[in-house]
Amino acid sequence: MDLLLEDLSTQDRYKFLSAVVIPRPVGLVTSKDQDGLYNAAPFSFFNVFSEEPAIVVLGLGAKHNGQAKDTLKNIKTTKQFVVNMVDKSIIGAMHICSAEVPSNESEIDYAGLTLADSQAINVQRIAQAPVSLECELFQIMELTERRSLILGKVKAIHISDEIIDPATKRIIPEKYSPIARLYGDYYAWLGDRYTKAIPTMEEIERLGIKAGDITTNS
Ligand SMILES: Cc1cc2nc3c(=O)[nH]c(=O)nc-3n(C[C@H](O)[C@H](O)[C@H](O)COP(=O)(O)O)c2cc1C
Repeated sequence: MDLLLEDLSTQDRYKFLSAVVIPRPVGLVTSKDQDGLYNAAPFSFFNVFSEEPAIVVLGLGAKHNGQAKDTLKNIKTTKQFVVNMVDKSIIGAMHICSAEVPSNESEIDYAGLTLADSQAINVQRIAQAPVSLECELFQIMELTERRSLILGKVKAIHISDEIIDPATKRIIPEKYSPIARLYGDYYAWLGDRYTKAIPTMEEIERLGIKAGDITTNS
């Protein structure tokens, strides 16, 4: 099937794009309003894009009534937010936080989450999250009235002691399993892993390594 985007409705574009680019990580974003009321909401149009500068990107749509989501309003106001990664321990809380909670109430209370101080910013992180990225607003790109890209500069990372090897400072893969968003209401966990270093040109040209010689060893 070949699809031209100009022929697709907004709903179908979402359906196809979100179903083909999978899995996507989910960032549970904490932010606060000018009165200090905390907001938490999950976003799967999310990823890390570079390390210098250290940039994460969030893609935000509008609420059903067309108004800006609380996360966008808060980030515009305070210029800070935390992206908390989601594993099994906070999966239920993540789903509760995706509900359209009124702006004058906090998802944190409904979800039974606990906040903890951040290291580098004045917005708190979720204490139960395995990893939290403390971000300062880098740039907002308003693509349309209903779509914004938020670029955040990561100022600090919190990693739960249980998932990191203190000697090597590496994440222990068996202990870190962030949720993967698929499409619609579907989610997944990470499956088998395999390792393969980037081939050198010597391997490809001189030693004649072929695509078929590279297999997954999981
Ligand atoms: C797993 C998951 C991923 C989501 N990803 C996005 C997303 O990338 N962009 C978006 O605008 N909304 C996304 N949503 C919907 C928001 O979480 C939802 O609109 C939330 O109520 C926004 O809250 P806020 O108004 O407090 O910011 C997602 C929901 C779920 C459950």
